[in-house]
Amino acid sequence: MTLATVVLPKHENAPIPDLDIHHVGGRIGAEISNVTLSSTLQPSIIAAIRQALLRHKVIFFRNQTHLTDVEQESFGRLLGDLVPHPTVPSLEGTQAILELDGARGERASSWHTDVTFRAAYPKISILRGHVVPERGGDTTWSNTETAYEELPEVFRDFIDKLWAVHSNEYDYVGDRGGNIPESAIKRYKQIFTSTVYEAEHPLVHVHSETGKRSLIIGHFVKRITGFGTADSQRIISILHDHATRPENTVRWRWSVGDVAIWDNRATLHRAVDDYDDQPRIVRRTTIAGEVPVSVDGQRSRERVQGSPSIAA
Ligand SMILES: [Fe+2]
Repeated sequence: MTLATVVLPKHENAPIPDLDIHHVGGRIGAEISNVTLSSTLQPSIIAAIRQALLRHKVIFFRNQTHLTDVEQESFGRLLGDLVPHPTVPSLEGTQAILELDGARGERASSWHTDVTFRAAYPKISILRGHVVPERGGDTTWSNTETAYEELPEVFRDFIDKLWAVHSNEYDYVGDRGGNIPESAIKRYKQIFTSTVYEAEHPLVHVHSETGKRSLIIGHFVKRITGFGTADSQRIISILHDHATRPENTVRWRWSVGDVAIWDNRATLHRAVDDYDDQPRIVRRTTIAGEVPVSVDGQRSRERVQGSPSIAA
């Protein structure tokens, strides 16, 4: 399916027609309070939602308890083609829903952008609160566009030229709370890496719709091309620390039926693993994205296990 590019209003604060929007964070995140998500929404509302998404990076809809898995998927198709996770099987009976169950160790509790170990990773993620703990289990998002813009110009010039290798073989233990049995971590890793992917992305890419620059970082990064592990880690740490400063983030306290939709091209996110043994299940759909493009017009590349390496 081909969707028209969203036309952004010239003035960034101009009202978006048809939507009641309230900022949640100062630089990222907004709640939309007058929309019931469904597959029958008018094209004008979908266009407005896409515009709000590009502007606010993550948008929240409360009380969408009417949504079933099927309806979550059919609403998602209004934003583009659904794409299943590359290695984790979709929830039974669905085309492309990824279920994340905290009891199985699926806690997503380190900063990442979804599926950056693929060259064309999803452009949009849609997450629905299915079972929500009484306390804890919030999700936080970071704005990688404002994070980039805030960096000193000389540092931006430096990272504009750098590329990083991302892989689904990352530090799984670091992503899990202390209470998760080792067997659960091992099982999850086995499924997650049943095919190993590597993608090489520019550290800075140009957004395909807004034309703005933002960082591609997160826990799938293995190293920066041309640097050793230690130096790669130092450079990445500076960028991560900067991107995840509270000023660049927003945090959402879930209720059952809440839906968060984020622009996966301009954000990082992580869940907060403070809910101990309480149940927490969220269900995610992702929308197919395009291959990122660097500031000098080069496209990201990918290799699959067994094929020649993409980077020395
Ligand atoms: Fe995620």
